[in-house]
Parts: sequence; C-alpha cells; structure tokens
Amino acid sequence: MKWSNYFIPTLKETPIGTEAVSHQLSLRAGLVHMLTSGVYSYLPLGLQVLKRIENIIREEMNAIGANELFLPCLHPLELWKQTGRDEVLADVMIKFEDNRKRSMCLGPTHEEVITNLVKDFVQSYRQLPVVLYQIQTKFRDELRTRFGIVRACEFIMKDAYSFDRDKEGMQKNYDLMYGAYKNIFKRCGLEAVILEADSGAMGGDVSHEFMVPASIGEDTIVSCSACGFTAGGTEERAKGTKCPQCKKTKLTSQVAIELGHIFQLGTKYSQAQSAQFLDEDGKQKPIIMGCYGIGVSRVIAAIIEKHHDEKGIIWPRQVAPFDVEILPIQGASHEDEEIVSLTNQYYEDLKASGLEILVDDRDESAGRKFNDADLIGIPLAFLSLCHHCITHIFDHRLQLQFS
Ligand SMILES: Nc1ncnc2c1ncn2[C@@H]1O[C@H](COP(=O)(O)OP(=O)(O)O)[C@@H](O)[C@H]1O
Ligand SMILES: [Mg+2]
Ligand SMILES: [Zn+2]
Repeated sequence: MKWSNYFIPTLKETPIGTEAVSHQLSLRAGLVHMLTSGVYSYLPLGLQVLKRIENIIREEMNAIGANELFLPCLHPLELWKQTGRDEVLADVMIKFEDNRKRSMCLGPTHEEVITNLVKDFVQSYRQLPVVLYQIQTKFRDELRTRFGIVRACEFIMKDAYSFDRDKEGMQKNYDLMYGAYKNIFKRCGLEAVILEADSGAMGGDVSHEFMVPASIGEDTIVSCSACGFTAGGTEERAKGTKCPQCKKTKLTSQVAIELGHIFQLGTKYSQAQSAQFLDEDGKQKPIIMGCYGIGVSRVIAAIIEKHHDEKGIIWPRQVAPFDVEILPIQGASHEDEEIVSLTNQYYEDLKASGLEILVDDRDESAGRKFNDADLIGIPLAFLSLCHHCITHIFDHRLQLQFS
C-alpha cells in the first residue's frame, strides 16, 4: 500500500480534552475520528487493526466449535419485556418509536434476541449443544463516556452464547471459552488477569472478568505478591489488609480495564422466554445457557495503553495494521532513481512473502516521515536509501522479526 493512496490523517498536536494516552494516540495516528461524544468512526488504519483483532477472535472461537452468525441491532422492545431487562437496562438502552408506532430499541447486548432465535429451532436434546457468536455493534447510552473508544455509546463487541441440555455441558463450554479468551488476549499482546466477578445485570451464578492492568482502568484488582491471590475490590479494601489466602503479606491494589466478561447464565433467559427442549427422559426442560463478551474496540485502546512510547504506538506484530513500513528517503548523496527502484524491489519481494507493506511515498520531509512512522508504530520500519546503506541491516532485522 502506498501512503499517498491511503487515508492516514495523522495529527501533530495532542487533541484538546483528551486524558488517556490511548485516546490521544488513536486520534493522532489517524485510527479513529470522533463524530460526537461517545461515537467514533474507524478510519482505514484503525479498521485494519480492528480486523486483525477480529480475526484472532474468529480463529479462537471457531477452534472451540462456535459458529459465527449476525444478529440485528434493531430490536422490538416487546422482546425485552419478556425478561424485564427493558427496566434493568433502562439507563443505557436507546429506545424510540418507529414510523409504524412500534416500540423499538438498539441492542445493548443480545441474550434476548439469541434465545428467541434458538428457541425457534431447537426442540430436542439431540440438537444440543449449540454455541453461536457474532462480532457486532452495541449501543449503550453511557452517561459518562470516557477515554474515547474505552467507554463509548456505540462500540464493537464479540458476544457468544452457549446452549446446553445440562450443567455439565454448560461448564464444558464455559471452560472452552475461558481457554479461548486467554489465547485471544495473549495473541493481542495483552496479559489478562482473570477475576471471579459479580454477574450484575446479566444474571446467573458464576462469572469471570478478564482485566488488563492499566492506569486508565475503572476497576481495581487486589492481589498478593506472595501466593498470587487476586480478587476484584477497592483500593480501600487493599490498604493494610492481609492476604486472606496465605495470610503472609499485605494486599496491593492496581487499576485495570475490563476487556472480557463471561457468565454462566443457567436458565434465567430460557425460563423467561420459554426456550425448552425435550430431553431423553421425555421431559420438557429449559435450555442451560452461558454468555461471553469481549469489547473488541476497547481491546484496541488497551493494546495502545500497554504498547507505546513517548513518540507513538508500538503495535505487537499480530495486530499491527501493516507488517513493514518502507521509508524511501531522498538524500543528497543518493540518486532518486535508485531509491525508487530499490523501494519497488523491496515492496514486491516482501509482498510476495505474504507481508502487508506500507510505503511512505509522500512528498514530505524526512523528519515528517520519521515522526509519522514513530506515531503509527508499524513493527518494522526501515529506510530505503541505496544498496550500500540498507540491504545489510534490513535483511538482518527482517530475519529476526519474521523467521
Ligand atoms: N461502553 C462501552 N464501550 C466500549 N466497550 C464496552 C462498553 N461497555 C462494555 N464494553 C465491553 O464489552 C464487554 C462485555 O460487556 P459487559 O460485561 O456487559 O459490560 P459492563 O461490565 O460494562 O456492563 C466488557 O468487558 C467491555 O470490554
Ligand atoms: Mg462486565
Ligand atoms: Zn497470599
């Protein structure tokens, strides 16, 4: 890809009213653009990162036997009344009346919709288990939107749902998801801390949150350095409190961002929406459910929080928008033509080996190109000057990175 033909509107200055590094850098590197508070567009570079994260998620979901589908954002409010969550989620739900005078809402999550769908097809234990997922836009009317895409009113979530005939089946799917989530965050370059959590508005008994410690986090993790005990909590709770597990050391606290949340729902939704199946023993039983969410767009912000320096983003290779950036720099002692042909040669060679290449072919100063390269953070950037200057260093670094 040639930069001159690719829309990367970088900004020199830090946009006003931004506190979080990830918010500043995602705007400055031309990843996202704010339409209004809490509502963002993804620009080509941001979309490229989003797609890479989504592909990691898809691979891990498909590997555990989940099937991708795509549910609507537009929901009849009637459906939400069946579970009473039109009231539970009233604060965040975006509701309106359509031209046919139907009460509608934009989906803040999809338990009701998927239960309604599965109920229409599953009648017998023979059809279970079913595990479905989607990657889709969610709408939540957040009063306190924060840190750009970290807490937005319109954001992208991967949500998965499991349907089983018994608790053992649900536990099995829950464990598979737990493992897949660990893989996903690791592959995104994030070290997730997993906490047993409160089920909140989702309901159900058991739930786990996947947290990444970061200064902008809105949650607090307390932990023990001696035995590894971790729990959700508050800073106050940690102060001076001895570890409840080993009773040796005092707990320490750190703030973290919640990136994923998985729930054992049991029969909360299947009972309210009468999603039943005929079991082997001839009895009608409610389907046992689990649900599993990752804030895909929030993951981008978390990666930037963890992988940057004072000059810009430093993408982990697996989620980088490009693998290699070539900076053709015109110097006094170098012939322009040689630079152009050398750049083309590298571009073709690297492309042939399956790498995604960005060439900064803009008619800009070397300084501007260096600054932008540091800002957008492609894992491997190299100059193309002339044969003498570059071939050696380049081949060596490429070997290190991609072998
Ligand atoms: N307003 C938001 N903006 C961006 N991501 C969000 C937002 N709300 C939730 N998420 C992401 O979706 C995941 C699953 O959502 P859920 O657990 O229902 O959210 P919450 O804990 O905020 O109620 C969260 O772990 C988080 O990563
Ligand atoms: Mg949550
Ligand atoms: Zn301990």
